[in-house]
Formats: sequence, structure tokens, C-alpha cells
Amino acid sequence: METIFITGATGFLGSYVVDRLMHTTDVRLAALTRAADREEGIAKLWKAMQLHWNAETFYRFIDRIDFVPGDLTEPNLGIAEGRYEALVTSCNSVLHIAASLNRKSEKQCLNHNLRGTLSVIQLAKAMHEDHGLRRFSHVSTVAVAGQRDSEVILEDEAIDWEVSDYDPYGRTKKFCEHMVRSLLPDVEKTFFRPSIVMGDSRFAETTQFDMVRAFCTLADIPVLPFDSNGRVDIVNADWVGKAIADLHMKKVKHQIFHLSSGTSSHTMGEITAALNKPPRFVPQLENAFGSIMNALASSKQKNTATMIGSLFKVFLPYITYDTVFDNSRAVEALGEAPVPFTRYCKDLYRYAKSVGYEYPAKPLPPAPQTTGAKPSEARP
Ligand SMILES: NC(=O)c1ccc[n+]([C@@H]2O[C@H](COP(=O)([O-])OP(=O)(O)OC[C@H]3O[C@@H](n4cnc5c(N)ncnc54)[C@H](OP(=O)(O)O)[C@@H]3O)[C@@H](O)[C@H]2O)c1
Repeated sequence: METIFITGATGFLGSYVVDRLMHTTDVRLAALTRAADREEGIAKLWKAMQLHWNAETFYRFIDRIDFVPGDLTEPNLGIAEGRYEALVTSCNSVLHIAASLNRKSEKQCLNHNLRGTLSVIQLAKAMHEDHGLRRFSHVSTVAVAGQRDSEVILEDEAIDWEVSDYDPYGRTKKFCEHMVRSLLPDVEKTFFRPSIVMGDSRFAETTQFDMVRAFCTLADIPVLPFDSNGRVDIVNADWVGKAIADLHMKKVKHQIFHLSSGTSSHTMGEITAALNKPPRFVPQLENAFGSIMNALASSKQKNTATMIGSLFKVFLPYITYDTVFDNSRAVEALGEAPVPFTRYCKDLYRYAKSVGYEYPAKPLPPAPQTTGAKPSEARP
């Protein structure tokens, strides 16, 4: 039976991967978690997993998850010495999902993404030298392609060191891929590059609101300062989670996979029409709008306007660059395409606004007494 050393299990995408792995395989997880002990790890994981599971299902799977207290930014990942050695000898593969998505902070991206990934690579190297690692999978991002305009990008052409990056996040994730390639030459590797992951095609609830908030705020503006024909590559989290889990487990033909909507991506005009909120598109205002948002973002004041400014300063390039990421490799490997955003964006919009962009997490109920009854699969 395989043990996967996994990072980022308690995050948004991590929860989808854990859900899929628990349902479709018999793997055990050794989950690097910023928690002091198992009890804290369980509480943290429940916060993420309640989007997918009810308490019964959680208790059914939790015995297959070992929590490894630690932190990407600490030496040796902050893992206690004996525990580190035990991981080196017992793990069969590595699935590195954790990262800082703070697009504004050089410091966080340096520490969590670069230093953190280097430490994960060092652990993987020790595992490989000990007994051979089946695979190292790294969750990257399409942002490694940097500043683009009106392109369809293929996996092997995305990284161009002459192209400037949008932000510290894209820059550090690009160098993380480079480190994995350079420092683990003999290990089988997979790089997953999701585009903008938003919502779930099966239900309206979500636990991640950064991009969703930017999207809802945009949808409420009656005049949009860009071209209605610009495509936005948005992909559903359920498809991305399934792709990461399934492709990590199986033999694949390629090393890099765009987890994106690719050439099926919809335009801003189509997305706003699906929301029944068609605005007036005035592309001539794009530069002026960008300058206003930048000015608001750099203001020292904290209010709704400066919050919206910060949001758009960070996300506007991702929305207006009319660039999509070819997904034919992942669609072929999975035998399934992502669900178009236009099909579920209205439910996501309504849900996000109804909860004020905050998931109403519930505490974990006590473990049920064993009754011998068959557990139900239902979400809460
Ligand atoms: N969401 C997207 O639209 C998107 C798009 C493209 C690529 N990605 C990539 O997908 C991955 C997951 O993103 P996400 O959306 O799931 O982010 P998320 O919800 O913010 O989750 C991040 C995860 O990383 C963990 N983490 C962060 N810093 C850590 C540290 N210092 N030590 C240990 N763990 C740490 C977090 O742990 P805590 O629970 O302790 O905070 C959490 O489990 C990232 O690599 C990201 O670059 C995401």
C-alpha cells in the first residue's frame, strides 16, 4: 500500500485531492500540517473537508491520514528528527500542493514557495536515495507563463525566461518548477498547472473566495473597462482535484499538464451574459481603470474602495490578458473535459454573496458510536 507525503491537504485544492484519493484508492497520507498535534490537525482538516464530507465520512477516512506537524518555512520543514527519518524510509511518492498565493508579498512567496519547495525537494531526494520514489508531483500554476497577451499557450512553451512575470507569486512558482526539474533529475515528475480555479460544478458552495470576490465585484459593475471578447481561463475545482489525484496515481505520457479550460474558455461577454448581468464594455477605459485601481491599492487608508483597488491590482491582469492554456493533454489523460464556467457561475455568484465571501464552517461533531450500520455518503 502506498504512502503519499502530501503538503497543502488543508487548503482549497488539497481538500479536493484528499477527497478523490480517499474515495478511489487505498493510499495512506502523511500530511505536512501547520498544527501542533493530531487533534489540531484533525480540526484543521475538517474545516477544509466539510465542503465534501459529512462527519461520518470524515471519521471513516481519518485513520488513513497521519498528520506531520511542520511548516514549509522551517529547517527540515519543522518536522521532528525521528519523524523525518521515518518519513524518508516510509513514503512512496510526494504530492506538493502547499504554497503562498499572496501575490503581493515577495517575502511570503520567497519563504513559503522557494524555501519551502527546496525543503520538500530535499526530503524527496532522501526518500529517493533510500528506496526509490514512485513520483514527485508538483502543483504549479499557469502564472509561470508570465505576461502574455492574446495567446493559446502549450505546456512545453509556457516557461520563457525572457518573459516578465506578473507578480512574486508567478515568479517564485516558475522557479519552483525549475528547482524540481534541476534537483530531482532521476525522479519521475509531474507538474500540474491549474488556471483560475473557481467553484465546483456540482454544488454552489466553496471555501475559497479570493478570485470569486473579484469576479462578483466585477459582475456588479455596470460599465466594464475591457473588451467583451477577451477570454478568461477559469476551471472548476472538482475537475482540477480529480486530475491531480488521478494523474498522480497513474502512468502518464507527459510531464506537464495544464489544468485549465483552454480553447473552450469563455469570454467576459459570455460570462456576464450567463449571469444575466450584461454590462457595457468600454475597452478604451482599461488603462484609466487600471491606474485608478493602482492608486487605490497604494493608499494607506483601509476602506471598501482601497480593498477593491487591491483586489483588482492583483487580479486584473489575469482577467484581461485574453490568454488561455491548452488542456488537451489533461482532457485526453482523464477522458473528461472541465465543466464550462458559464454553466455554474450564477450559482457560485449567488452563494458567495449570500455568505459574505466567508465559508460558514461548522465544528466537528464527536465521533459516532460504532453501530455496524453502513455509513452514508452524503455531504452535510
Ligand atoms: N486556487 C487557484 O486558483 C490556483 C490556481 C493555480 C494554481 N494553484 C496552486 O494550487 C496550490 C494550492 O492552492 P489553494 O488554492 O488550495 O491554496 P490555499 O487554499 O491557500 O491552500 C494552501 C495550502 O498550503 C498550506 N501552506 C501554506 N503555507 C504553508 C507553510 N508555510 N507550511 C505548511 N503548509 C503551508 C496551507 O496550510 P494552512 O491550512 O495551514 O494554511 C494550505 O493547506 C498552490 O500551489 C497554488 O499555487 C491554485
